[in-house]
Amino acid sequence: MQNNTALTTSPEWLALEQHAQESQNQKIIDLFADESRFEDFHSALDGLVYDYSKNNITGETIDLLCALAKSCGVEEMRQRMISGEAINNSENRAVLHMALRNSIGDHVEVEHEIVNDFVENSIRQIEGLSNQIRDNKAITDIVNIGIGGSDLGPRMVCKALQPFLNGPRIHFISNIDGQALSERLTGLDPKHTLIIVTSKTFTTLETVTNANTAKNWLLNELDENEISQHLYAITMHTERAMNFGVPASHILLMREWIGGRFSLWSSVGLSIAAAFGFNAFKALLDGAHTVDEHFLHTPLQENIPVLMGLIGIWHRNFKNYPAQAILPYSHALRDFPRYLQQLDMESNGKSVTRDGEKVNAATGPIIFGEAGTNAQHAFMQLLHQSEEVVPADFIISIAPEHSLKGHHTHLVSNALAQSRALMIGQEDTENPARNFSGNRPSSTFMLDHVDPYHLGMLIALYEHKIFVQGCIWGVNSFDQWGVELGKTIARTLSNTLQGHDEHSEEYDGSTKALLDIFKEQYLKT
Ligand code: F6P
Repeated sequence: MQNNTALTTSPEWLALEQHAQESQNQKIIDLFADESRFEDFHSALDGLVYDYSKNNITGETIDLLCALAKSCGVEEMRQRMISGEAINNSENRAVLHMALRNSIGDHVEVEHEIVNDFVENSIRQIEGLSNQIRDNKAITDIVNIGIGGSDLGPRMVCKALQPFLNGPRIHFISNIDGQALSERLTGLDPKHTLIIVTSKTFTTLETVTNANTAKNWLLNELDENEISQHLYAITMHTERAMNFGVPASHILLMREWIGGRFSLWSSVGLSIAAAFGFNAFKALLDGAHTVDEHFLHTPLQENIPVLMGLIGIWHRNFKNYPAQAILPYSHALRDFPRYLQQLDMESNGKSVTRDGEKVNAATGPIIFGEAGTNAQHAFMQLLHQSEEVVPADFIISIAPEHSLKGHHTHLVSNALAQSRALMIGQEDTENPARNFSGNRPSSTFMLDHVDPYHLGMLIALYEHKIFVQGCIWGVNSFDQWGVELGKTIARTLSNTLQGHDEHSEEYDGSTKALLDIFKEQYLKT
């Protein structure tokens, strides 16, 4: 495969390499000698503050990074995205999740009537069906069955908005592990439970398996006619959902131009609207729309998601940091790191450009994280004292949705203490085990509230950050071929275990031996 050297030999890239070399002894804390450091290195947008002053960057770094973004065509690609071009070129699909969060009645940016009509109809359908579900007082619980993008987004949002719950309880099943489904259904009553099967393809093994088991669970208590009232589906394939037993009036359409991991704004958000009300769902879309407007119309130098993306490029490519920690100091946002793992790693965990050449640079970092303060008692040791430098994103809400003021004050103090400790370190020449080298970068997001509007803003910021980075590396951030090989091998192995084929002698020694143990000790018992 040919190496794409254009990126790393460009004058903009080389200038950044030289800048990194020249500034390698620079200390973040020393940059605060400039009293306007925070003023110059933070942005505020409608109840959200992005503080990037605790990164090892100067105005020159930002200028050089913006020059790189320009030379990589970030602005052109952004335009191609909103104009509905098939920028997901390996699947020949447009990428139009932004169209979903235009306020109803506003003009959508995309000038495609089909898209506009679909968005309008889809949002009305979400409103209608979510109201119908909420009005049915017999329904106390909803179980969303889906995986990946058909699970992680709505699951994260529903957890985050729990204090605002004013509809049925909402549960999520994704894993094919039978224990997950058994544990979840225990205690629920089929007569009072709705099952929403969320699957763009309606063929995903995990989802189809869980959906069939859940349908049988409904049939324990209800007859065939009754269960159709308990089944909803969100999919691109209406006929598959109908064959499964979902009535046509309970099926919400997805479109190929809404990627799974960008789909919580679509009909995939039905569970959000049902649990918290359509207005809350709408506020989520509005928050994202505010960020879209900012992303589309703000100069690169002041554009928050662009800055987030570029600082990530600085860390990954010019500082060689392999990972990125996501640290929400917010119980509400405890699933945000998991959600971002798919959003970021499925988008940019690639090594081939859109044109099929090898990317000649490191791409997407390893994303991991945990809610603070739990993270401090788990992996923060490594962030403070390991030789590996891991940039961190701290996320704080100013006002919590509870009245335990003392708790919240401790929580926020801990977040600020961590970012400060990472930066200043602590010299201890007597006792090296207590030495902290410091100079470790972080950014901090402060949200007025973790409410639907600001949550929508936060999610959209990360979506666009990932887009910007994908443009710079030249990868297609909207496909996910890397998940396919495992799926194919799993199908073959499953056939082998069920005795449908006899190819086991072709497997490697390890796989064959483990299959034999499993067959002997589980399948034959
Ligand atoms: O993990 C791979 C993937 O294709 C994701 O991109 C997608 O979100 C998920 O599987 C679920 O797919 P579906 O909605 O078709 O069941």
